[in-house]
Amino acid sequence: MSQTLAAMAEEVLRTADGREKTALSHRHAARWQEARAAGTPPAIGHAAPPDRPARPARPDLLDPRDVPRRRPGSPEGRIAILHAIAHIELNAVDLHWDMVARFTGLDLPPGFYDDWVKAADEESKHFNLVCDRLEAMGSHYGALPAHAGMWRAAEDTAKDIMGRLAVVPMVLEARGLDVTPGMIRIFQGAKDPETVAALEVIYAEEVAHVAYGAKWFNFLCGRRGIDPTAEFHALVRRYFPGGTKAPFNEEKRAEAGMPPDFYWPLADTLPAAWS
Ligand SMILES: [Fe+2]
Ligand SMILES: [Fe+2]
Repeated sequence: MSQTLAAMAEEVLRTADGREKTALSHRHAARWQEARAAGTPPAIGHAAPPDRPARPARPDLLDPRDVPRRRPGSPEGRIAILHAIAHIELNAVDLHWDMVARFTGLDLPPGFYDDWVKAADEESKHFNLVCDRLEAMGSHYGALPAHAGMWRAAEDTAKDIMGRLAVVPMVLEARGLDVTPGMIRIFQGAKDPETVAALEVIYAEEVAHVAYGAKWFNFLCGRRGIDPTAEFHALVRRYFPGGTKAPFNEEKRAEAGMPPDFYWPLADTLPAAWS
């Protein structure tokens, strides 16, 4: 019998090495996509995703306050930025496969799985793009310490798909849309077109991940007959009490199906136009 999609997701989550994890992620995504196109997809099935995904022995994981800050104006500073991005991308690979494996009891349409498999596949590409740039600059993923606690949001929402969708794609990945243009400018200023090209791929593809979040959040609100805006506010206040931070990339958030009344009321300041 062929492997279920949930079992494929679990296998990725249980693979520790970043390059191996992402290679397996690409293979499983291709298997799912080819079988879907042929009209013979594997069963979704059920799996036992680990509480925390397997990760390499390096990088050392530190409390965010203890991760040394470096100035972006130096080559070391730019390596540190890329290292932090590689860590986020590897985490995102696991977050998206966890989305596939964690909520299989909810009878979600196959399109839900298409979206998160595609997102996981793209995160795998992002990790490798950033690792390639780090290696070209004489470093590698694992050479510096990285933030511990990135899996917290996943653990807190392991039994609450609405909370997971609100916090992971619609808060954390949407935040990526806000900050990526500034990172691109740093590497433009450093005359590093290869890194700029890699970050532009990431920036373009992340819009769709936020959009998948908004789409399935709205779908589940509709299935349960609840108001999406109020529900989003309640869930973010519960699982992400730090709130969202302006300035927001309103244009890309709109493209991803996130209207301003989703996120502005959670920010500590309201825009002038709202007061
Ligand atoms: Fe990404
Ligand atoms: Fe993403």
